[in-house]
Amino acid sequence: MKQLFIIANWKSNKTELEAKKWIQEVLSIKDQGLSIEKEIIICPSFPCLTILKSYILNHHSLIKLGAQNISPFDEGAYTGEVNVKQIKEFADYVLIGHSERRKNFGETEETVVQKINMTTRYNLISVLCISDLSQLSNVKIQNDDSNQNNLIIAYEPLFAIGSGQADIPENADQIAAEIKKELNNVSVLYGGSVTSENVSNFTKMPNIDGVLVGGASLDPLEFSKIIKNA
Ligand code: PGA
Repeated sequence: MKQLFIIANWKSNKTELEAKKWIQEVLSIKDQGLSIEKEIIICPSFPCLTILKSYILNHHSLIKLGAQNISPFDEGAYTGEVNVKQIKEFADYVLIGHSERRKNFGETEETVVQKINMTTRYNLISVLCISDLSQLSNVKIQNDDSNQNNLIIAYEPLFAIGSGQADIPENADQIAAEIKKELNNVSVLYGGSVTSENVSNFTKMPNIDGVLVGGASLDPLEFSKIIKNA
């Protein structure tokens, strides 16, 4: 069985109290479908990391945490930024270059590469989100084989994000195969309108190693079904 990554991207949703209710509910579901072949990663907003971390530790859960963003700079005079050392206290993964950050916050290829370098330096895993293959080119130059374990690529076509119209699994698989050719068998996830109904259509594809789930991850029951069906 291949190793699957199932990542919840909560985006800018949930208060600390709501995050606590979500994790309580997920952990109380008897058959969560959790197994060592499925790495489950929750990416909440920064203020929810503390409560989730303590819940996960107290319940000896295998669920991992990720950040949705990272400062391209080390600690210091960068008002409003959350730096890698602060993130490392809570998270093992960092989403980088999500299309919403590229579109709404002017994130450039240059900052994306800076952020990947930062996470790599501190042994965190970058989940680089791309909507087309051209966004791989700068990463390819930076990334040698020794960095490959610290990098996951999430392919998220723009039309599929938040639209309820997921890509055709065969198309996504073909892109995933091309990414693996470019980056020496890196793990590739699919993202964009993934639900409990369609998740297995993606995870059964030979080149797809998991999913990045936005909207459908906000509901604990639906997310648990996604884990089970993946
Ligand atoms: P969606 O979002 O599942 O709501 O389409 C996915 C993402 O933006 O990562």
